[in-house]
Amino acid sequence: MAAAVKTDVTRDVTRIERIGAHSHIRGLGLDDSLEARAVSQGMVGQATARKAAGVILSMIREGQIAGRAILIAGQPGTGKTAIAMGMAQALGTDTPFTTIAASEIFSLEMNKTEALTQAFRRSIGVRIKEETEIIEGEVVEIEIDRPAAGSSKGAAKTGKLTLKTTEMETVYDLGQKMIDSLTKEKAQAGDVITIDKATGRIAVLGRSFTRSRDYDAMGPNTKFVQTPEGELQKRKEVVHVVSLHEIDVINSRQQGFLALFAGDTGEIKAEVRDQIDQKVAEWREEGKAEIVPGVLFIDEVHMLDIECFSYLNRALESDLAPVLVVATNRGITRIRGTNYKSPHGIPIDLLDRLLIISTVPYTEKEIKHILKIRCEEEDVEMGDDALTLLTKIGIETSLRYAIQLIIAAALVCAKRKGVEVEVEDVKKVYTLFVDVKRSTQFLIEYQSEFMFHEIQDKDADMTDAQL
Ligand SMILES: Nc1ncnc2c1ncn2[C@@H]1O[C@H](COP(=O)(O)OP(=O)(O)OP(=O)(O)O)[C@@H](O)[C@H]1O
Ligand SMILES: [Mg+2]
Repeated sequence: MAAAVKTDVTRDVTRIERIGAHSHIRGLGLDDSLEARAVSQGMVGQATARKAAGVILSMIREGQIAGRAILIAGQPGTGKTAIAMGMAQALGTDTPFTTIAASEIFSLEMNKTEALTQAFRRSIGVRIKEETEIIEGEVVEIEIDRPAAGSSKGAAKTGKLTLKTTEMETVYDLGQKMIDSLTKEKAQAGDVITIDKATGRIAVLGRSFTRSRDYDAMGPNTKFVQTPEGELQKRKEVVHVVSLHEIDVINSRQQGFLALFAGDTGEIKAEVRDQIDQKVAEWREEGKAEIVPGVLFIDEVHMLDIECFSYLNRALESDLAPVLVVATNRGITRIRGTNYKSPHGIPIDLLDRLLIISTVPYTEKEIKHILKIRCEEEDVEMGDDALTLLTKIGIETSLRYAIQLIIAAALVCAKRKGVEVEVEDVKKVYTLFVDVKRSTQFLIEYQSEFMFHEIQDKDADMTDAQL
């Protein structure tokens, strides 16, 4: 590997917003003194657990703790995953937060410990400071020359860019590459832009205040900035955060940079990691880089097996360890890969290292509120009676089942050309889709007509044994 460890990662992926199970969660909903507000940032109730998560969060923010582990334990549907998502949201984009489901470890084309190592290293950020030369100014004019008539079609475009600061104005020649990136960034006269001299990357910082009356070129989110002062060319310190895993991938010879996008990174050699750890340690000593310990969240942690658990035990002791958050809804159950039972299916030695946050079932009022938030999130108008009925259903069956009925009821409502979901619509979907209790009841009554029912009779513990 070359002496210089490469770290440049361009993150230019457009996010596609979809309504997911937790898309209404925008944080933990805590106030400045870490008390949980009753309803805030999409979070309802579960105050103690949220507050505990907030304490962990502030320790993570200070960057002082590494190698700590937290277990969120509680019944199904009590918001364990939601709290982890809230933590991720509250941490923001500069602290790495990696989410995996324990079962993923077994479905990758690599061994379990390699998969876990990658997840760990994804969760550790390296904040790198670099001095770069940039050109920063307000665009006065962009002039793109029309290719001369008769010249071949693919001829490279040329042009001129005039930039100014409060003190000077300069004209730069443009090549094809710069013209493309100016077009891509939709830069136009009146924008304040920066050009990275080393990479040629262009960023639009905002529109110049002097153009604030220029309504044509304004969108609803137009940001206004001052025209830069002084020289056009500046040295600027740029800071970016990349994860250790990203550095690993870029520097492992067989993989290369593109593997990051393909997602199939394969196994990474231990030597590559050792060299990178050394290099990062050097950078830290020289003050060029800082470690940002992030969070690794492993959901459904009871699906890990004994080898994975012992790996976790060891990995948490490394000084480059992230904060580990795991969640499970299991009680005392078999540890995968052994015949021993243990609380949450986690070996006692690991349990002993965990701080445990427990979640409790919701009250009727809280369920109603969560359902209401979900209606808003899914853009469904629901009458109060219908919401009350749905809440009853939520209590009798499960919160998840009730949440799932929202969109189904909205479809039934649309079918009859109604504007608002009413009690009838909820009743209808309640009969169309059975919940677990009714489905089980049905099975008990008609079991003999299904296939393979005899297996159940022989070994009632079958599903458990399969784990
Ligand atoms: N306190 C809350 N505020 C708002 N929404 C919540 C809250 N708790 C749970 N939800 C929502 O209810 C649904 C179920 O919660 P979640 O998936 O977090 O449960 P869980 O504890 O992870 O369950 P499981 O053990 O089955 O994984 C999700 O859509 C979640 O976003
Ligand atoms: Mg969950």
